[in-house]
Amino acid sequence: MKKLIAPSILAADFGNLERDCKMINESSADWFHIDIMDGVFVPNISFGMPVLASINNHAEKPLDVHLMIVNPDRYIKKFSDLNAEILTIHYEVCDHLHRSIQEIKSNGMKAGVALNPHTPISVLDSIINDIDLVCLMSVNPGFGGQKFIKNTFKKIRALKTLIDTKNSNTLIEIDGGVTDQNAKELIETGADVLVAGSFVFKSNNPLDTITNLKSIIN
Ligand code: DX5
Ligand code: ZN
Repeated sequence: MKKLIAPSILAADFGNLERDCKMINESSADWFHIDIMDGVFVPNISFGMPVLASINNHAEKPLDVHLMIVNPDRYIKKFSDLNAEILTIHYEVCDHLHRSIQEIKSNGMKAGVALNPHTPISVLDSIINDIDLVCLMSVNPGFGGQKFIKNTFKKIRALKTLIDTKNSNTLIEIDGGVTDQNAKELIETGADVLVAGSFVFKSNNPLDTITNLKSIIN
């Protein structure tokens, strides 16, 4: 399978959201990565439904929605209505992860589960076959522009082993601190999707940066 790039809108210019969405449409990026933060699960608030609705108006590629919120079950239907293709919830906030995953799927979306840097892969042992995508946080969730945590490589290896052992099709997504310096090694270790926020949007030419990242990983 081709390896994917998902630019994170969190690092876009919110005053020029239409322009930045069009840039992603025209680029070789695969998905829009959308970070929703509630100021409770993470120490930051990003944006909510109205902004996502605007993004959806302009985006021509799948919306990969990453919920960093408590009680995600309350909003599953809303995100489905807003056209999320993948809905990722955090393991750390789900008492009934299996139920939440089924709920996401029954609303027509692919189900993702994100793990914080301190959460071991083994928590997914009994449920990996139900999950379409595991998002490994390679920074502590809450902010863009943080330094990549190197222990992520070990976690990718452990997750890849689990996926292979269980004959699962789950994709591995890496979120946080991705640059042209670690992209290749992340893919070689087993990642399928790389999220990149600051590295893309703070570069001189985001379009070229995406092209470059794509060529590094494929
Ligand atoms: C962090 C978010 C990330 C973030 C990545 O909580 O989940 O998606 O936008 O940003 P960079 O690529 O700048 O680390
Ligand atoms: Zn994210």
